[in-house]
Amino acid sequence: MNILITGATGFIASHTIVELQQNGHHIIGLDNLSNSSIDTIDKIAQITGVTPEFYSIDICDYNGLMSVLADKKIDCCIHFAGLKAVGESVSKPLEYYDNNIGGTITLLKVLREIGCLNIIFSSSATVYGTPAFVPITEDCPKGICTNPYGWTKSMIEQVLLDTHHANPDWNIVILRYFNPIGAHESGIIGERPNGIPNNLMPYITQVACGKREKLFVYGNDYDTPDGTGVRDYIHVVDLARGHVKALDAIRNNCGAEIFNLGTGNGYSVLDVIRTFESVNGINIPYEIVSRRPGDIASCYAEPSKAEKILGWRATHTLQDMCRDSWNYQSKNQD
Ligand code: NAD
Ligand code: UFG
Repeated sequence: MNILITGATGFIASHTIVELQQNGHHIIGLDNLSNSSIDTIDKIAQITGVTPEFYSIDICDYNGLMSVLADKKIDCCIHFAGLKAVGESVSKPLEYYDNNIGGTITLLKVLREIGCLNIIFSSSATVYGTPAFVPITEDCPKGICTNPYGWTKSMIEQVLLDTHHANPDWNIVILRYFNPIGAHESGIIGERPNGIPNNLMPYITQVACGKREKLFVYGNDYDTPDGTGVRDYIHVVDLARGHVKALDAIRNNCGAEIFNLGTGNGYSVLDVIRTFESVNGINIPYEIVSRRPGDIASCYAEPSKAEKILGWRATHTLQDMCRDSWNYQSKNQD
């Protein structure tokens, strides 16, 4: 299939392009390079032997998108492009709503114009807010988000469902990711956060390589087995493979469907630290500090819908994730 990838040079998209190319799909990638680098295209080619078609373009630019896409036959769009820094979204809500929601609406208009009514969207477990129950099924009601970033995901989901409602010819797959970590086993592509990492694993790998002195663990008084926050960490390569499976659903005219992409396992912050230390033989100094505003105690998936309908389940362990995250960091010390 000819697959349009927005946010193509980003963390999750780059791993997904590798899996798609290895499954024989042709990629047309777009990115405005606001949070990634063009050299990712060469790195993908290094892994797969195929250079993806790539355009440096913004999804908010209707005319620019049309000029690239008008004469292309696109079978499906996988829409990763978006701003994703939770803290920044609190200080720049208009930029986040404009880029993420405005950009998605522009993209949908372009897709409609060029006759591609198939889209897979990168959503997030953040739409569950403080989840009504764990493990979280797709039927769990959406919740109150604690930041504008989360609301953009929640609102884009609604835009997509309304678009399908108005024209059922649209096939729309919403993938709610849990916590993606890890990297391609080659160590060639991985996550490259700008500045001080917000997320746990990039922070741990920067402590491991000596760039940061110690990890701050945000609270040990949650109602969880060891008091630290529990999350469903999923290897980015498993997540990427979930998109390949979602294409089959699109091909089978699935209509509008929502899937959790998680492992079903909840691990605490201390579990992650200990696993990282034992797999990589590196000590991670840490200090318990107060809770981070907006954090929840526990968030993990009930992933059986994706297994039943898409035939997908995560296969990588937390050990694999810790090994591959460190492998990438240690090979890319810049
Ligand atoms: P990323 O920042 O590495 O990738 C996003 C890409 O989108 C970047 O390359 C950025 O330059 C590009 N982009 C942003 N705005 C754009 C625009 N207007 N036009 C064109 N390109 C634009 O992030 P990621 O971790 O790979 O996330 C991919 C998607 O998955 C995002 O939508 C994100 O919100 C979602 N998601 C991520 C996580 C996570 O923890 N990483 C969890 C749940 C959902
Ligand atoms: N944590 C620390 N210290 C840190 C960073 C994180 O103790 O330096 C803890 C957090 O308190 C939390 C856990 O590690 O308990 C995971 O935190 P992350 O920031 O890695 O991930 P979150 O679950 O907070 O959020 C992530 C993404 C969101 C996304 C959500 C669900 O950042 O964008 O997963 O997919 F919405």
